[in-house]
Amino acid sequence: MGKAIAVANQKGGVGKTTTSINLSSALASKNKKVLVIDTDPQGNTTSGFGVDKNNLDNTIYELFLGECSIEECIIKNVIEGVSLIPSNVNLAATEIELIGVDKKEFILKNEVDWVKDQYDYIIIDCPPSLNMLTINSMTTADSVLVPIQCEYYALEGLSQLIHTVNLVKERLNPKLDMEGIVFTMYDSRTNLSLQVVENVKSHLNQNIYKTLIPRNIRLAEAPSYGMPINMYDPKSAGAEAYMMLAEEIINK
Ligand SMILES: Nc1ncnc2c1ncn2[C@@H]1O[C@H](COP(=O)(O)OP(=O)(O)OP(=O)(O)O)[C@@H](O)[C@H]1O
Ligand SMILES: [Mg+2]
Repeated sequence: MGKAIAVANQKGGVGKTTTSINLSSALASKNKKVLVIDTDPQGNTTSGFGVDKNNLDNTIYELFLGECSIEECIIKNVIEGVSLIPSNVNLAATEIELIGVDKKEFILKNEVDWVKDQYDYIIIDCPPSLNMLTINSMTTADSVLVPIQCEYYALEGLSQLIHTVNLVKERLNPKLDMEGIVFTMYDSRTNLSLQVVENVKSHLNQNIYKTLIPRNIRLAEAPSYGMPINMYDPKSAGAEAYMMLAEEIINK
């Protein structure tokens, strides 16, 4: 039975998508079978794997509306070992489409249950908000991985995020755990990055991954080539960091 990890933080631009893509491909390179689910209407995980998001018959939107089966919307092997449920801007309408729908918090979970035993890891990239899409992701997940950008406002919104995880655990998904925190865009040349790490450690009683994802331009470039970092530049600091994170997650 695969482990489902939701990559969530309602703060925008903290590295959720970069982590979802590169953690998935790092896990796959360690012979794990991975399903990545893009639950963000921005579709950045979809395009980051080189999939043309505007030219798809079945996406997670059709899945939410019951217009396709999960098998029909999975794109197999976008890279070796990684399959993808894609997303695009259509998904932005889901919240409205689901008004009044019974048990809408469980739609994704009920679908993923059909395929969960085919994968070792299911990585779910969440949108930058605490909406019904994020709730569905957390209801599907076994744990929540929170990327935190090493910048001044890092702690802002985190208590709200943890409160949301606790609510989902209490009311929708009793097995949900905090996977932990991963620091992103760490800049070893500045004191600020170090201060943010220390600050978060002292304020949050959470598992914190030892791997610090460095600020690395190659990580920012890779998506425009539709490649994860271990294909685009396997020797880069970013590639090495995501391999180490994958190792930590496997050994947890
Ligand atoms: N470690 C890194 N080094 C350099 N650039 C990075 C790194 N991580 C992410 N970025 C860049 O920062 C921007 C935001 O990253 P990303 O899209 O992963 O964040 P996000 O949390 O998914 O954003 P959103 O909330 O919009 O979904 C992107 O342009 C990405 O390429
Ligand atoms: Mg994103």
